[in-house]
Amino acid sequence: MDWGMKNRLSQLIKEDGKCMFMPIDHGYFLGPTRNLEKPAETIKPLLPYYDALFVTRGILRSCIDPENTKPIILRVSGGTSILKDLSNEVITTSIKEAIRLNVAALGLSIFVGSEHEKETLSNLANLVNEAEEYGIPVMAVTAVGKELEKRDARYLSLCCRIAAELGAKVVKTYWCENFEKITQGCPVPVVIAGGPKTETKFEVFEFVHNGMQRGAIGVNLGRNIWQDEHPVAMIKALRSIIHGNATPKEADEIYHSEQ
Ligand code: 5RP
Repeated sequence: MDWGMKNRLSQLIKEDGKCMFMPIDHGYFLGPTRNLEKPAETIKPLLPYYDALFVTRGILRSCIDPENTKPIILRVSGGTSILKDLSNEVITTSIKEAIRLNVAALGLSIFVGSEHEKETLSNLANLVNEAEEYGIPVMAVTAVGKELEKRDARYLSLCCRIAAELGAKVVKTYWCENFEKITQGCPVPVVIAGGPKTETKFEVFEFVHNGMQRGAIGVNLGRNIWQDEHPVAMIKALRSIIHGNATPKEADEIYHSEQ
């Protein structure tokens, strides 16, 4: 592996082999999501606790201080909104922009089984072709759009394996029962996505812990952190699972002690 590629991956995946990515890219199709109306304010208290930020170029340039940030995973797919078919994405941001912004990785969504499956998989393959030239890793997001019920091991293992086959260096997917089926069938690291806010915090601690035990290397989890009433307590609790091997119960104790 080339020096640049290795260096970028080591910015994202820490010495313990784990990672905690903070996504704030939601506005690219959801608009001003609750608690993310002002991204700079949302992430300011969280900055010490995440390892990398997943963000679009627009929010990066307008809201993130270039002199005080963490490695950037640049969201480069989009062109759709919640009002229409989410799978109809294109690549929105060039490699030249990514290099200008000094990013550590690129991220895009694939929609396996959707009407635009082929286009989104071509987006991934073409992006990898370009990104490899410059030593930039690509993270594929196995998106399900509005069809959250698609989140099972059979479907997600298919998506993750396809993403890896097409050259993704990291794959982000949803937690589900039998998560090991996904990690065992995917030759590149898998990170757990969050999804809409759950009813209880303990559910989040449990699914993150379960996913880590079954082979995930970390999370890319947003709303369940910054839509919580105590986002700093939440991120510290989750960080203790990812980088500190805490149990869900221990994470819950950390959450309550941090309020
Ligand atoms: C949207 C994304 C987001 O990064 C992803 O959904 C993670 O955020 P959350 O934990 O809020 O779901 O890729 O397609």
